[in-house]
Amino acid sequence: MRKIAVLTSGGDAPGMNAAIRAVVRTALDKGLEVMGVQRGYSGLINGELFPMDRHSVSDIIQKGGTILRTARCPEFKTEEGRQKAANVLKVYGVDGLVVIGGDGSFTGARLLSKLGVATIGLPGTIDNDLAYTDYTIGFDTALNTVLDAINKLRDTSSSHERVSIVEVMGRSCGDIALHAGIAGGAEGIIVPEKEFDQEQLCKVILEGKLKGKLHNLIMLAEGIGGANELAQYVEEMTGIETRATILGHIQRGGSPSVFDRVLASRMGYKAVELLLEGKSARVVGIREGKITDDDIDEALSIERTFDEELYAISKVLSH
Ligand code: ADP
Ligand code: F6P
Repeated sequence: MRKIAVLTSGGDAPGMNAAIRAVVRTALDKGLEVMGVQRGYSGLINGELFPMDRHSVSDIIQKGGTILRTARCPEFKTEEGRQKAANVLKVYGVDGLVVIGGDGSFTGARLLSKLGVATIGLPGTIDNDLAYTDYTIGFDTALNTVLDAINKLRDTSSSHERVSIVEVMGRSCGDIALHAGIAGGAEGIIVPEKEFDQEQLCKVILEGKLKGKLHNLIMLAEGIGGANELAQYVEEMTGIETRATILGHIQRGGSPSVFDRVLASRMGYKAVELLLEGKSARVVGIREGKITDDDIDEALSIERTFDEELYAISKVLSH
């Protein structure tokens, strides 16, 4: 291994820059050359590569987004697209690639590894939806962003004695809603992993009012139904003014938290170590505080389990 490259792919996540920095600085420290690839797999196909040195990653650890830009690239899903990407890497003399992204990006990395490029994946997504790792880079920062928003919404919904429905991201994973809901003291948490009864929710809200609650904060994970429709239903059924807030892409931005910076730094370091050990088609994760690496296929085939215990705790604490 003489020269490696790094790219970010799929939805961006806070901490991706810290991961890029860790990959570049570790590689340089170990005597490797490093190239950055712009715009994910699109940039790989189009030959958007440039050499990186220590200064290329100065002053980025605190920045959200990704200095390498990111993209979704349908062409990479075709064999021809991937072959073009492999050819580009060959032309540049790159023999190892670090891919920072989610499960789609990992599938791409696995297929690319079959064309002779050693690939290592780092989990960069706010969704925390990868079963093989306890945490993904960006999840913790997104939670803090959501928490900040919840705190503010609580102020105004208390003043008006309203119900506040807050829709958060996560695709089909309820982790953002669950963790932010617990941290923000939400009265209700609605996630795709658990059945949801609209009437029961209204009952909880009305009971809360009888107990003297000034407001009700309901966390809604995206993909179960719209926050606006739910707000309309709750208002009709309870007679309590209800407002919906869809947090949207604000959850993907911002300076990464300490947790995400440290996680990204440890994972970036591990990715380079794996490439130097001659490993390929592996993904880096963290389990019980330890940095891990797993075969991509095996990692992606693990079924995600929902944290039932945390959900049960949230139910007890919200009453
Ligand atoms: P994420 O990596 O966050 O899950 P996507 O699912 O959008 O995001 O995937 C990012 C990119 O990874 C896609 O635009 C595509 O270039 C590549 N990719 C996704 N799925 C596949 C696949 N099945 N085969 C090859 N490449 C894929
Ligand atoms: O995977 C990250 C994520 O932010 C999801 O939570 C969300 O469903 C999706 O990406 C939004 O994608 P886009 O940026 O393409 O709108």
